[in-house]
Amino acid sequence: MLFDLSWEAPHPPVVDRSGPFAGDQSSSSVESASSEEGLCFQWAARNGWAFSSSRRPVQHRVLRILWSRIDQARREVYNGEVRETETGSIRLGGGALGDRVSITPIGEPRQKVTISTLRDKKLHSQPITCLTAYDYATARLVDEASIDIILVGDSLAQTMLGYENTLTVTLEEMLHHTRAVRRGVKHALLVADMPFGSFHVTVDDALRNATRFVKEGGAEAVKMEGGKKRVDLIRRVIDAEIPVAGHIGLTPQSVHVMGGYKVQGKTLTAIEELMLDAVALDRAGVACIYLEGIPREVAAMITAEVATPTIGIGAGPECDGQVLVFHDIMNLTFGVPAKFVRRYGDAAGLIRNAVAAFRSDVLSHQYPSDDESYHLPQDTQQALETVLARKRGMRP
Ligand code: KIV
Repeated sequence: MLFDLSWEAPHPPVVDRSGPFAGDQSSSSVESASSEEGLCFQWAARNGWAFSSSRRPVQHRVLRILWSRIDQARREVYNGEVRETETGSIRLGGGALGDRVSITPIGEPRQKVTISTLRDKKLHSQPITCLTAYDYATARLVDEASIDIILVGDSLAQTMLGYENTLTVTLEEMLHHTRAVRRGVKHALLVADMPFGSFHVTVDDALRNATRFVKEGGAEAVKMEGGKKRVDLIRRVIDAEIPVAGHIGLTPQSVHVMGGYKVQGKTLTAIEELMLDAVALDRAGVACIYLEGIPREVAAMITAEVATPTIGIGAGPECDGQVLVFHDIMNLTFGVPAKFVRRYGDAAGLIRNAVAAFRSDVLSHQYPSDDESYHLPQDTQQALETVLARKRGMRP
């Protein structure tokens, strides 16, 4: 933890007339309870700091320094902003700052999610959340909603670029979107998909391309589809200090080999193959394993077998975490969703209505209004009117 923002105070620093300052209402320290600094004195008093009249100026100076350090640390944690919260506010009982100003954010400041966080979550049976994002605005919203992993999936081929499948999307296109997402993400773990062809030709290519995702895209891990047959390569990438996310089951980059997008792992042989893939990735030390399009029972077995966190999509509820494609949950995909997709919003409806309303306002001259227009400064307006009047006067 960067700094204990709870102040470790058994009681939050609220205005309190019962501490060592009680009865000393003339003391500037108590009277300044309407300031954050005053609250600091109060908190100190409540926590057993003895104040003597003779030493009070020195003690006040110490507290002032302490306060400024706390304030500075708080600003660092929150990237320079001092956040206001409704809950967690120190109850000032009125006073200059009002009750919207907080110096004691409740709870922990949000921690950066790393690959260790994923392991910890598996260990403590805490579900891991993951969503795709492909642009700055979405990434920001998803990150601010405390999602653990943001995946710049190669599904952007279809969702963002309108390609038929993921095979066509290029490394440069993936990097372009990863950079945009990077700018919107502060806390989530940022994983980027290595597109088809970027790790299938030579190991050197794969290493170079994975490195580009970290160096140019700001990714913290790269995802590669495939199990056993990719494990040597995955080890090399991890050896190059790049965390790798595995991805097995229905792997869309193998669409032609699979003969379509079909649920995998439905026969005993297929289950065994999947289990071997998962164990191989686990031993290689991947950061997590995406399990896509496999029966719930198989995903549950894999999840119980491997130490690596599993993140399911169409793989049932026993996985250590769940991922969905942002465009699927927001109804932005123009098609019939897969069985496992749950729609949490209707962005398509929202956009259609907003666009139709804009069009109608323009056609009916309702937009823009006078309030939505810029105006000349008054003196320029007057001068202009004078000039125009003169011109009109000069007309024959
Ligand atoms: O590209 C993607 O969005 C993915 C997820 C479905 C796991 O690979």
